Amino acid sequence: MSATFEFKPNILGFLCNWCCYAGADLAGVSRMQYPATMKIIRLMCSGRVDAEHILRAFSNGADGVFIGGCWLGECHYVTEGNYDALSMMHLCREAMKRVGINPERLRLEWVSASEGIRYAQVVTEFTEKLKQLGPIGVGEGLDENALQFKLKALGKLIPYLKLVERERLRVRFDNNEGYAEYFAGEEFHRLFDELVADNLSISQIMLLLGENSRTTGDLAEALSLNPSEVSRHLKSSIRHGWARYDEGSKRFAHA
Ligand code: FES
Repeated sequence: MSATFEFKPNILGFLCNWCCYAGADLAGVSRMQYPATMKIIRLMCSGRVDAEHILRAFSNGADGVFIGGCWLGECHYVTEGNYDALSMMHLCREAMKRVGINPERLRLEWVSASEGIRYAQVVTEFTEKLKQLGPIGVGEGLDENALQFKLKALGKLIPYLKLVERERLRVRFDNNEGYAEYFAGEEFHRLFDELVADNLSISQIMLLLGENSRTTGDLAEALSLNPSEVSRHLKSSIRHGWARYDEGSKRFAHA
């Protein structure tokens, strides 16, 4: 008789102390039923969650990352960190999508201290979604090395992403729908292409060159990019002193 393996997702949850964490507590003391799939890190505000925390969670094997905060307009701090959390979540999701990691592995929900039932529901729904997606990497058709490579490339981009977010992509809407619409819209995608996409490709090229010297064709194939695009990135990397061309081997290498 063969036992059937049921995938149980591993979720890391960053919960705001004042609302979602209290909601989780209420769900617990009320003995509500929901899957025990989430390990919780308690923060004082959802705005303290950084893209680096999210990527580190995925690198360490989380199949999903959950951010739980106070409803918009109800953050306990004058900085209203939950608006920042929402922007950061959308930006991270786009960056994940660009490197082939399913953005639905990252989820943000507002849950107040009195919403124990809602907390149990969102954890159950997220767990079900992750079960459909499968384990991180496997669900994307990436082996462990490829997954770690993608996460590392994203990680290298974080300081730049933060800068771009602060300088060019900072938006403010009153509701979730405003953010969802903006981040799914043409203007955001144009800005992302203009400001981030090239740097993401260069980050991946530099990581590959850090492993071995390679030709333009090798890099294009490894990253599923057009050779002329790779060539453009290599020229710019050489100009910046990050890469060099070896005439003897006819290959590019990390400087
Ligand atoms: Fe809860 Fe800011 S205090 S999201």
